[in-house]
Amino acid sequence: MSLVVAKQIYKNYGKLEVLKGVDLSIDAGEAFAIIGPNGAGKTTLFKVLTGETRDFTGSVVMDGHDVTRQPVHQRARGGVGRTFQVARVFGEMSILTNVILAIESSKVARGEPVGPWWDWRPSAATRREAIGVLESVGLGRNFDDEASLLSHGDKKRLEFATMLAGRPRILMLDEPTAGMSAEDRRSTTRLLQDLKSRGLTIVLTEHDMGVVFGLADRVMVLNYGQIVCVGDPQTVREDEAVKRVYLGKGAGHA
Ligand SMILES: Nc1ncnc2c1ncn2[C@@H]1O[C@H](COP(=O)(O)OP(=O)(O)O)[C@@H](O)[C@H]1O
Ligand SMILES: [Mg+2]
Repeated sequence: MSLVVAKQIYKNYGKLEVLKGVDLSIDAGEAFAIIGPNGAGKTTLFKVLTGETRDFTGSVVMDGHDVTRQPVHQRARGGVGRTFQVARVFGEMSILTNVILAIESSKVARGEPVGPWWDWRPSAATRREAIGVLESVGLGRNFDDEASLLSHGDKKRLEFATMLAGRPRILMLDEPTAGMSAEDRRSTTRLLQDLKSRGLTIVLTEHDMGVVFGLADRVMVLNYGQIVCVGDPQTVREDEAVKRVYLGKGAGHA
């Protein structure tokens, strides 16, 4: 079943046509990677899917609902969790508090009670839930440390944890391994594989081909706002049009 369907997406910035009639369909439980050279329109397409950009033509349907005009927070309520290229965590708070706050704010978003603001204390159950989420991303130790002390890779794990705290069904990741060491990339790929095996649908843009081919069930290649090829990793790797796009750009511009 298709969880995300986008039809005939066109987007310009002034005279610049950034997306020129993109169609996509993402199945529940699949990992779907959007790749292509710099400036191809990946982040723009991504923002159309998350709701950050709503000034475009075309339609976006998630889980059978038309969300084309829905803002980010409404899509979050519908199960969309997203991360940013630069990890967003509260550095001066503890690792655990970051996740507890994420759990509590997702409860607020769902309209569940969290207790009075003047005497707010997380319940033991919320604390246990937060620790469980941290364990699931490999941050189950030293969670009373300040988040600012974490390495770049672990900050990314914490960001995943705060996203998972909202119990999303779809993870939207724009270049999740940007700026990471090779080792952090490998461990992030393993973490994403694990999340996928737990049934989450993952949509990502990524330029590290190791991450893409280690994770994606299907890959879509964009170039100048148009789809060059969509298919399983093997099909995309052998596609002549894709080879031309990448060979024409030289190394480092994936
Ligand atoms: N806010 C903006 N205003 C004007 N042009 C933009 C804006 N955002 C992106 N662009 C342009 O749109 C094109 C696609 O950008 P983007 O979607 O970020 O590509 P990618 O993520 O594939 O590198 C680029 O030419 C970029 O310069
Ligand atoms: Mg981008």
